[in-house]
Amino acid sequence: MKVALVTGANRGLGLAITKLLAQKGLKVYLGSRDLEKGQAVCEGLVQEGLNVEAIQIDVTKNSTIKDALAKIKEQEQTLDVLINNAGVMLDSGEGQNSVLTVDSVIAMQTFEINTVGALKTSQAFAPLMKEMGGGRIINISSGMGALNEMEGGWAAYRMSKTALNSLTRILHAELNDFGISVNSVCPGWVQTDLGGDKAPLTPEEGARTPVWLATMSDPPSGKFFRDRKEISW
Ligand SMILES: NC(=O)c1ccc[n+]([C@@H]2O[C@H](COP(=O)([O-])OP(=O)(O)OC[C@H]3O[C@@H](n4cnc5c(N)ncnc54)[C@H](OP(=O)(O)O)[C@@H]3O)[C@@H](O)[C@H]2O)c1
Repeated sequence: MKVALVTGANRGLGLAITKLLAQKGLKVYLGSRDLEKGQAVCEGLVQEGLNVEAIQIDVTKNSTIKDALAKIKEQEQTLDVLINNAGVMLDSGEGQNSVLTVDSVIAMQTFEINTVGALKTSQAFAPLMKEMGGGRIINISSGMGALNEMEGGWAAYRMSKTALNSLTRILHAELNDFGISVNSVCPGWVQTDLGGDKAPLTPEEGARTPVWLATMSDPPSGKFFRDRKEISW
């Protein structure tokens, strides 16, 4: 049985990805920075017959990443799929929405979670994938980080996702020879706490492309996808 870990999975897109992966027969570790929140969500999924287990992982806290790796190693000896989904958009508040006024502390916090968080989890789990002869890393990015679609506003968020795309390319360059595929996905504009209720897509619709990459045979690597199609960086 294939094993997956999804970060930021107690709500929104991460939860929808977790459900879809479990419905496709994977054992899924539902990562949540607050373990109780993750456990509460997991209870319902387990009652639906899904093979999911809550695991604490705060992508800014090294100790939780280390403990999560130790637990998954002990219980599964492997990790086939890592979905770096945890993310925030902190620059939506008053005065934050222009590059000229966005608070540098907010920008650093955004990078710490959206970019460095994915770096840290990849650093923790990629060696296990290498040891096991392969795996898949999927970074949940955004068209807002695509240089060719770049517009004004949400500067911290946009920059963090551009940098996440760069992480995708670097991981791909270092890991693909070891059988590990690494891709970025823009899920589209999705109805979540982050996306808001005007978004056209449901979380289930947003989850489709990452789940497709996580489960398809012979996946591509080093690419950026939306709607199961490659898009430009
Ligand atoms: N929604 C969209 O339209 C859209 C579009 C493009 C890309 N995305 C990306 O999709 C991903 C998921 O977003 P979403 O829309 O589902 O947002 P969401 O509903 O706000 O969920 C964000 C998730 O990330 C978690 N998280 C935040 N900080 C964390 C940390 N330090 N460590 C671990 N988990 C943390 C949250 O946990 P708590 O519950 O504990 O806060 C929550 O589970 C993000 O990377 C986002 O940038 C979303």
